Amino acid sequence: MDAGLARARELLAGADRVVFLTGAGVSAESGVPTFRGHQGLWKSCRPQDLATPEAFRADPRLVWEWYGWRRTLVAACAPNPAHRAMAGFCLDRDATLVTQNVDGLHTRALLEAVEGDAPPRTLPLTLHGSLFTVKCTSCDHHAHHDGPVDAASLETLPRCPSCAALLRPGVVWFGESLDPQVLSRAFQAAQEADVCVVVGTSAVVHPAASVPLATLEAGGRVLEVNPEPTPLSGMASAILRAPAGRVVPDLLEDGAG
Ligand code: OAD
Repeated sequence: MDAGLARARELLAGADRVVFLTGAGVSAESGVPTFRGHQGLWKSCRPQDLATPEAFRADPRLVWEWYGWRRTLVAACAPNPAHRAMAGFCLDRDATLVTQNVDGLHTRALLEAVEGDAPPRTLPLTLHGSLFTVKCTSCDHHAHHDGPVDAASLETLPRCPSCAALLRPGVVWFGESLDPQVLSRAFQAAQEADVCVVVGTSAVVHPAASVPLATLEAGGRVLEVNPEPTPLSGMASAILRAPAGRVVPDLLEDGAG
């Protein structure tokens, strides 16, 4: 076995509690584009035109068109071996899954893993919301919403059933605060964890990128799975420079114990 993998498995075997922090890279092998890097979404689109409250106020039709496209793309993708290995690990061990992803693939993998059995104790903590929810731009209505969105004109965009104001995607945009309850649960899990496994994130967007720092500050260790170096790499006790779908199943096999 590769020395990095052996070291990472040893750290996991000695951990009572584990927290995962994932980013777009964990879904890359499912066919979901990442944000940064050669073919990342932010290479062809500007975040300020599509992922801010100002962008939505200026052109809700354009923003819905982009989110509708992403919904359709993601709905045609399936969890990959990394999502499935993490789901299995979380069902077997004391582990919390924190993700920046809005694609729902971790949740799908968990629900597939428990099919026929009791539902999982906890679902992933989704720091940046979900592509498959909406919230009202005027009142506090929010709901699951996974149907097609007709972004042909302003008139066809989804409207709030309570107050008829425009509905918007249930994601966190740049310049917005994260849900304080979700954030606090993520940081609590990070502080209590002996090991934080960071998979497929460039670790440049805060507060998400601070989750592993909370584990380190509380005396725990960080493992990184990413083909490329990140600002976290220098703080990691073990690094697996490989695609998540290839290496995460080996890392977590048999609960790594
Ligand atoms: P990024 O696109 O910034 O980073 C993806 C990371 O995944 C990079 O470090 C890649 O090297 C790595 N990667 C690529 N393929 C991989 C693979 N097969 N296995 C493992 N790693 C791989 O995505 P995030 O870090 O998730 O926020 O971005 C953070 C936030 O910035 C997103 O949640 C989004 C974005 O703007 C909002 O929209 C608010």
